[in-house]
Amino acid sequence: MPVLELNHATGCCRIHLERGLLGKPAAWRKHLSGTVLIVTDQTVAGHYLQRLVQTTAEFAPAELVLPSGEEAKTIEHWHAIVEKLAAIGAQRDATVVALGGGVIGDLAGFAAAGYMRGIKVIQVPTTLLAQVDAAIGGKTGFNLAAGKNLVGAFHQPAAVMVDVETLVTLDQRDFLAGLAEVVKYGAIRDAEFIGWLEDNADALLQRRADTLEIAVARAAAHKIEVVEADEREAGQRALLNFGHTFGHAIETATGYRRYRHGEAVAIGMHLAAALSARLGMISDHGARRLSGLLEKLGLPIEPPRDIEPKTLLGHMRLDKKNRAGRIRLILLETLGAGVIRDDIEPNTLLELFDT
Ligand code: GLY
Repeated sequence: MPVLELNHATGCCRIHLERGLLGKPAAWRKHLSGTVLIVTDQTVAGHYLQRLVQTTAEFAPAELVLPSGEEAKTIEHWHAIVEKLAAIGAQRDATVVALGGGVIGDLAGFAAAGYMRGIKVIQVPTTLLAQVDAAIGGKTGFNLAAGKNLVGAFHQPAAVMVDVETLVTLDQRDFLAGLAEVVKYGAIRDAEFIGWLEDNADALLQRRADTLEIAVARAAAHKIEVVEADEREAGQRALLNFGHTFGHAIETATGYRRYRHGEAVAIGMHLAAALSARLGMISDHGARRLSGLLEKLGLPIEPPRDIEPKTLLGHMRLDKKNRAGRIRLILLETLGAGVIRDDIEPNTLLELFDT
């Protein structure tokens, strides 16, 4: 399977996509150096930690297992990682291996960014969301009580090791939520991919490894292109937030308990497409196709009816992507072409939530 390359301001990150990668020592040897620390969470540790420890045995890796879940993305767990690095005598040639989903990738990546002003991190994403998005592109950080990802840094991984076989153990809702992020790339950049996803929805839902590998490689290639063009999110990287402004508002309004991130993003993409159609951008047919695909993939598209439109709007006003007090949205010119807009009137959004 392919090795993709992401060229960034300070070097090149190789993204290896290969089934069984977690069990292949030769693939790891060239990326590891110095003291090695594998950081993971309790759920992933139960499935894959011992396999990776065995595969990398010649480096005698140390291990740190953190609690699972978004609540673990705190300064305390960031601190636990850097303290562990110090305790095992890690020097500037050390390697942090982030084995897990987006939470572990962000925390371990930020620990690597800060320890001794920056050491190497290898991202080993084990969730679909992390394989197609979070592990690629160097965003790292942790949450504050005031909001998600409010502290962080860009720290590009030296390599990303993607083994789609890890997706077999993923919880069904997490798997479907990851598919929402795959659909996102089709919606904003690749209409042909939408057609492919429609044709291959059943195989994806059956988690067929060959189909997943194609989908992950295509989505990852899109992420790489976007990051290469705009590493620090000065412009088009913001397109990756399609569905996210609505989605974050829904997640916040429901206390982060009712929806997985990808589920809220799926609802957000449906709303953004519907709004785009109302504004005379994407055709009604195009918007319906996108929403139909999301539903076919088992994702929700209707916003929660027990949340007041004004409450959702209030959360959207606080989104950290906003500039000069204007809500920033990603809308669709057509299926496969996203665009950044900050000229949508609040009343238009209230009407959208009310229908
Ligand atoms: N997950 C969005 C980004 O990496 O920019």
